[in-house]
Amino acid sequence: MIAADTSYFNGTELPQGDSPDLILVPATPRERIESIRLNSKAWKGRLDLETYITRENHLLQQPLTKDGLTCWILVDRREPEEQRTILSSCETYKKKAILAYAGKAEDVSTHGVGSVYCRPDFRGKGYAKRMMQELSNKIETWKMETETRKCCLFTILFSDIGKDFYAQFGWQPFTSSHFALSPMSEEDYASANAKASLPKARTLAPEDVRDIMCNETVLQKERELLREASEQSSVPKIAIAPNFEHFGWHWAREEFYAERFYPDQELPRAKGAGEDSAGVYCAWNRNFGETPEENTLYILRWVYDEPASPEQAEKIVKAMAAVLRRAQLEAHRWNMATIEFWNPTPLLEKAVAVLHPNAELVHRQKSSIACLRWTGAEHGMGANVEWHLNEKYAWC
Ligand SMILES: CC(C)(COP(=O)(O)OP(=O)(O)OC[C@H]1O[C@@H](n2cnc3c(N)ncnc32)[C@H](O)[C@@H]1OP(=O)(O)O)[C@@H](O)C(=O)NCCC(=O)NCCS
Repeated sequence: MIAADTSYFNGTELPQGDSPDLILVPATPRERIESIRLNSKAWKGRLDLETYITRENHLLQQPLTKDGLTCWILVDRREPEEQRTILSSCETYKKKAILAYAGKAEDVSTHGVGSVYCRPDFRGKGYAKRMMQELSNKIETWKMETETRKCCLFTILFSDIGKDFYAQFGWQPFTSSHFALSPMSEEDYASANAKASLPKARTLAPEDVRDIMCNETVLQKERELLREASEQSSVPKIAIAPNFEHFGWHWAREEFYAERFYPDQELPRAKGAGEDSAGVYCAWNRNFGETPEENTLYILRWVYDEPASPEQAEKIVKAMAAVLRRAQLEAHRWNMATIEFWNPTPLLEKAVAVLHPNAELVHRQKSSIACLRWTGAEHGMGANVEWHLNEKYAWC
């Protein structure tokens, strides 16, 4: 039997957060379910407990996470496996990434950290801090045996508790900004399109996103851009590889909810939008929140080529505006309260200004703070690093 909510080791007092008896270990499959059961209090949202566990197991089956997910638990080493009291828990997901340094780009692996949790009755005792400390010691070499470097030089997480907590363990906050736009009804969409001289955007099915946005040419282009940038400055550049597995994972999550909340509706096939003549594309997912007000259509990633002339730039901006407008329509169809996209480029800022001249870029201070822990200095690459393609697709 796994220890119940209130049972402590041997019925004695809980250990101190700095006790030498505490260790961070991968959970057994049953302990993983127990940790999901515990964190359901924070994250099950509109789902009941069983459905939430089913969701987590469903996500675990996705190509992005199938082989690379580890559920970690902080426990007292004196307790026997399967009977250990879970003092704190988190997950790590192995991901593919790109590292460019001194004019060379490498395919590397990294981990994303997520689901950092301590049950309410155990909080404030230093367990989450201890867990992050232990994790920072282990994560660099975890599941890296088959990698060329045998270690990863950086790991990422997205903090919902501000910028300070994770920074003490090396996960420093990076730019975390977004635009939030409103949905648009069919009527407004039709009349706005009639008025504005925007091209027509088309929607993308999953296979379009795979073929257009995730093909090897696009991935190679991203490698090359990072490599070129690393010739210009000595600061290493990294990006999470924007491969199809990421999109599949986000869609598995959206479809899990869509199936349950909209059983009479077909699963959403429109997974993004594009404008072919300008070569502008985006992929999105629908995020069903705890309340309808939290429903958000996230643009996960944009793909386009940098313009070579002002005329081309204008064409791309118009295409982006058309794609954004199509996203606004999609958000309305799926009862999303907002459309969000992260860390817009200057061209995307212009596109937003075409549609909504007063829209303001939001700089998040508390939630979804993109954080990165860099240990490249120990490998002679300096103390700083640049995070490229810091978009929502990489969220975990
Ligand atoms: C965040 C959480 C894991 C902290 O667990 P904990 O075991 O109580 O944390 P510790 O006792 O190790 O550390 C306490 C420190 O964390 C900080 N902290 C805890 N919750 C925080 C929050 N919501 N926002 C900012 N800081 C927070 C405390 O201020 C305290 O800082 P101090 O040491 O400077 O006083 C726990 O509150 C939790 O599970 N929350 C719900 C889920 C969640 O939000 N997880 C984080 C997702 S990014």
